[in-house]
Amino acid sequence: MQIFGVDIGGSGIKGAPVDLDRGDLAEERYKVLTPQPATPDAVADGVKEVVGHFGWTGPVGITFPGVVTGGATIRTAANVDKAWIDTDARALLGERLGGLPVTVLNDADSAGVAEMQFGAGRDRQGTVILLTFGTGIGSALFHDGVLVPNTELGHLELAGHEAEKRASTKAKEDHELTWERWAHRVQKYLAHVEMLFSPELFIIGGGVSRKSDRFLHLIEDIKAEIVPAQLQNNAGIVGAAMRAAKSAA
Ligand code: BGC
Repeated sequence: MQIFGVDIGGSGIKGAPVDLDRGDLAEERYKVLTPQPATPDAVADGVKEVVGHFGWTGPVGITFPGVVTGGATIRTAANVDKAWIDTDARALLGERLGGLPVTVLNDADSAGVAEMQFGAGRDRQGTVILLTFGTGIGSALFHDGVLVPNTELGHLELAGHEAEKRASTKAKEDHELTWERWAHRVQKYLAHVEMLFSPELFIIGGGVSRKSDRFLHLIEDIKAEIVPAQLQNNAGIVGAAMRAAKSAA
């Protein structure tokens, strides 16, 4: 069974049909740059281009980099245009896709759903936290495999600043941090999250999961096991498709 997944990110909108039995992309993904400013209208056109590239006509799962309630309504928009706030994204995107059934969920939650089923979190009980490091920091909290959606742990305060402003990969680039200095900030952040939730496992996702050999060994003094995401940057697409399949069932 295949369902289409789209991942709306701060820099790119990417999508592909997903093979839900294998938990992997059924075809090579297609990407367009996220329009700037990333208004609802402009992003909806980007989503349409990605889905249209494959001539897809079935259900579509779509991630969004902010709080999403009820599979539809956007509540926050830290790294995209503020006009998204209170938008019914399910209605907007569904209409732009010519009436295809659409489900929307938070990007990190989506990546987490995929990792728990097909990746680094498979068969893991207890508290598992997936953190995505990219334009912002996203979080997905699971207990015994059940997601608590929209946890937004990237906005915790760290050393007097929002954590994602100090420890995202965008912060690493903006402040030209070495891997060592950036890992030090990530370590402080993980220690803070660990103090609050005592997870058994941290899964590190986002584009940086591909480069885990550059920094994971630099992170010390965390009791939880720390592993890179296995689906890497495709986790969001896969999780979105999984969620859309659930809604369509
Ligand atoms: C948003 C989260 C999102 C994360 C990663 C944060 O700024 O508030 O909802 O998951 O960025 O995109």
